Amino acid sequence: MSSPNGGLRIGVLTISDSSSRGEREDLSGQVIVDMVADLGEVTERRVVPDDEATIAATLREWVDAGLDFIATTGGTGISPRDVTPEATLAIIEREIPGLGEAMRAMSLEKTPMAMLSRAVCGTCGRTLIVNLPGSPKAVRECLEVVLPVVAHAQHIMAGGGH
Ligand code: MTE
Repeated sequence: MSSPNGGLRIGVLTISDSSSRGEREDLSGQVIVDMVADLGEVTERRVVPDDEATIAATLREWVDAGLDFIATTGGTGISPRDVTPEATLAIIEREIPGLGEAMRAMSLEKTPMAMLSRAVCGTCGRTLIVNLPGSPKAVRECLEVVLPVVAHAQHIMAGGGH
């Protein structure tokens, strides 16, 4: 399914306890919105707390709504509240390890802390879901890595040829 302008229908999900309480501006979600502008239309944008059931329910809702691409930011690390990878694994049918590997490989050149990101990427039906880390800087760096293949991945997932 595509947006009225022919591009992808995109969801941007920010996972942050403090942003969901209105204590912190959602700068990372805004970075995603700005960076995907050429790819299609952001039809869904939401900020939710670091709660596995809430994250999974939102992903499910957006998959069922037919979104092509969902980018999440936050909650990929190892703090007690970080559950984004678990929620994503509960929803995806096929993991695409290469996307996470590529992001971590690039990120390791920036900071050894990248080893601590457990970001998961995969597909559910015709929706591609990508976890990004939480900081605006990390979002920018990681999205730059995967963005060039998103449209092509979506095309193939939808049954198109190479
Ligand atoms: N990746 C890039 N490219 N740049 C970064 O600055 N920060 C890391 C990492 N990945 C970072 C990065 C840090 S500090 C952590 S703790 C992990 O991602 C997990 O981030 P999250 O818990 O905010 O999702």
